[in-house]
Amino acid sequence: MQRKTVRDLTAAEIRGRRALVRVDFNVPLRGGEVADATRIRAAVPTIAYLRERGARVVLLSHLGRPKAKVEANYSLRPLVDVVSAALGTTVKWCEDTVGMNAVAATRALAEGEVLLLENTRFLPGEEQNDAALSKDMAELGDVYVNDAFGAAHRAHASTAGVASFLRPAVAGLLMERELEYLGSALEHPKRPFIAILGGSKISGKIDVIEALLPKVDGLLIGGAMACTFYKAMEFETGHSLVEPDRVELAASLVQRAGFRLTLPHDATVSTSVDAGAKAHAVRRDAIPASEAMYDIGPDTCASYARAIGTAKTIVWNGPMGVFEKSPFDAGTMAVAHAMADATAAGATTIVGGGDSAAAVEHAGLAAKMSHVSTGGGASLEFLEGKALPGVECLDPKAST
Ligand code: 3PG
Repeated sequence: MQRKTVRDLTAAEIRGRRALVRVDFNVPLRGGEVADATRIRAAVPTIAYLRERGARVVLLSHLGRPKAKVEANYSLRPLVDVVSAALGTTVKWCEDTVGMNAVAATRALAEGEVLLLENTRFLPGEEQNDAALSKDMAELGDVYVNDAFGAAHRAHASTAGVASFLRPAVAGLLMERELEYLGSALEHPKRPFIAILGGSKISGKIDVIEALLPKVDGLLIGGAMACTFYKAMEFETGHSLVEPDRVELAASLVQRAGFRLTLPHDATVSTSVDAGAKAHAVRRDAIPASEAMYDIGPDTCASYARAIGTAKTIVWNGPMGVFEKSPFDAGTMAVAHAMADATAAGATTIVGGGDSAAAVEHAGLAAKMSHVSTGGGASLEFLEGKALPGVECLDPKAST
């Protein structure tokens, strides 16, 4: 970790000071209630660390993608009770994000108290990383802590700009953990090191495939993006999702990757993804013209599970099929279970955020992974080797 963390703050930098903590509370809401509090729970260690040392904690987050104006359905207000329960203390609420009232609310906090401010994305300037807004945000604290790994790939006022006006600027414990797991997998993995990439579109995964290929011992592909590779191999793909403008690229990847790139040998296909449609397994070169691939097939499940079982480091991002709909969840579940077994056998298993993290949560296997990232886009960009603005803006560790 090349950046300072809350652990590097002195007691005097914490006690009685206002710690402005950027968290990623971008949680799913259903019927106005928090449907999954994983990200809230993930922020607890940092907030608890600061409270125990006498900080006055001010929380900033975005929620959803409102269009730089107040949109009631994206208010953070419904999170107050959930955050309070997670922390075991009553969290105070302010319906402003910056400005006089918000600053006054931060100043009114006693040591150990916690204040949640309204959605940062209600403010024009947040997504533009506006300097004036960043300066206003800096008024909310005496020290800046970025614990929002999930939003660290965004150069926004609350995730990056604010650090230009508020020092010390350090990483939270969740940010530290995320960067350590993902960073050490890339920098010094225990080998064999394999990556499993799924999802529907190859276009969103090209950079990560290119970045990982030289580092891994094996790269296993799943999800509908396999079909773009099949097209490149001149197989029938029926009405599977294929990206015609990426077929050439897929062909070149197959050629360059050689034995390190593995495509599913078989596919679970059907005429429709809807419940009740009959699904069956076929070899990858035998997808019927009237059907589509919705999952990797059983042979592939077994061989991917074997590959996972022999690896010492496994990074997984993206589902193997339409995992929200049975029976097309079989491939994703097979990978999740094989990863859980691998963890028990001593391997380091890392699940990139987003859909694969949701699938692992849903299967009740999250605790059986070495690390489940809270960041979908952020973990992907990290694996692509890109610098994350939410990390770059933090104080560097003194070189030893
Ligand atoms: C996420 O959910 O991946 C993060 O909170 C970032 O959200 P965004 O994609 O709307 O910037």
